[in-house]
Amino acid sequence: MRWLVTGGRGMFGTDLTLLLQERGEQVVPVGSAECDIRSLDAVRETMRDFDVVVNAAAWTAVDDAETHEAEAFAINATAARNVALVARETGTRMVQISTDYVFDGTATEPYEPDHPQNPQSAYGRTKAAGEWAVRATNPDALIVRTAWLYGEHGPNFVKTMLRLAGERETLKVVDDQKGQPTWTRDLAAYVLDVVDTGAPGGYYHGTAAGQTTWHGFTREIFVLAGMDPDRVQPCTTADFPRPAPRPGYSVLAHDDRQRRSWDEGLRAMGVTANAGRP
Ligand SMILES: NC(=O)c1ccc[n+]([C@@H]2O[C@H](COP(=O)([O-])OP(=O)(O)OC[C@H]3O[C@@H](n4cnc5c(N)ncnc54)[C@H](OP(=O)(O)O)[C@@H]3O)[C@@H](O)[C@H]2O)c1
Repeated sequence: MRWLVTGGRGMFGTDLTLLLQERGEQVVPVGSAECDIRSLDAVRETMRDFDVVVNAAAWTAVDDAETHEAEAFAINATAARNVALVARETGTRMVQISTDYVFDGTATEPYEPDHPQNPQSAYGRTKAAGEWAVRATNPDALIVRTAWLYGEHGPNFVKTMLRLAGERETLKVVDDQKGQPTWTRDLAAYVLDVVDTGAPGGYYHGTAAGQTTWHGFTREIFVLAGMDPDRVQPCTTADFPRPAPRPGYSVLAHDDRQRRSWDEGLRAMGVTANAGRP
């Protein structure tokens, strides 16, 4: 199959491209310089003769979106619709990558794919609008929500914690947000699986199995890096005020597809104490 990855130079897009190449698929990753998806003409020019398009392009600066919601909306909603429209015109299967931030984070059990959206942040509103625009334009599209992504090809939480570990004796990390840390390569494998099995259009949850808090995640990073996990101390969200509200509970319910737990994914990526150094 021929795959197009918009946002293909980002953290997830890079891992998806590499996995597709390893599996012998034909893949063309495009960044914003090659295909700015805000331009319908650019999308039409780029999306020729592909079987699948994965839209991994997004405004991902969650806090900045609070003061730049219109710009974030232009990429996360209006431009996602451009991809959906051209995918429909060309008969290309579309995968739209979305987020746990479309939910309000107040649940006490995992969010089912059809749970009503209720985003609490500007970023969440723009991604929720993107889901709606893609579904309305292209009902065959697969909306794959993910959360707490980390990967080798981006500035991510694992690298940040390892860098801080080199700078401080103890770290305070939030222990009142629950989620599913997900390796970008595991998300890529999930996307391949839903496409390969011809899953029907709709919502899918591409997060790791199990759940933890940022504090629990960081302790595991320390263990794998051979450092003392007791250097990681718990704190609350209120201790670290941020412009955008964070969902307290971001656990997404899963279908029967095979997936790794968050800690197996972390082990598979590999963590070494010097990985956080530039
Ligand atoms: N990171 C997370 O924890 C997380 C959690 C839940 C969901 N997600 C979703 O997962 C997807 C991938 O996220 P990521 O972490 O891999 O993001 P990322 O590293 O920030 O990559 C996003 C890419 O989008 C591209 N992009 C931005 N504006 C564009 C435009 N106008 N036209 C074309 N490309 C544009 C950028 O390309 P250039 O670099 O070429 O400008 C960038 O490489 C996104 O849909 C995000 O919303 C991420």
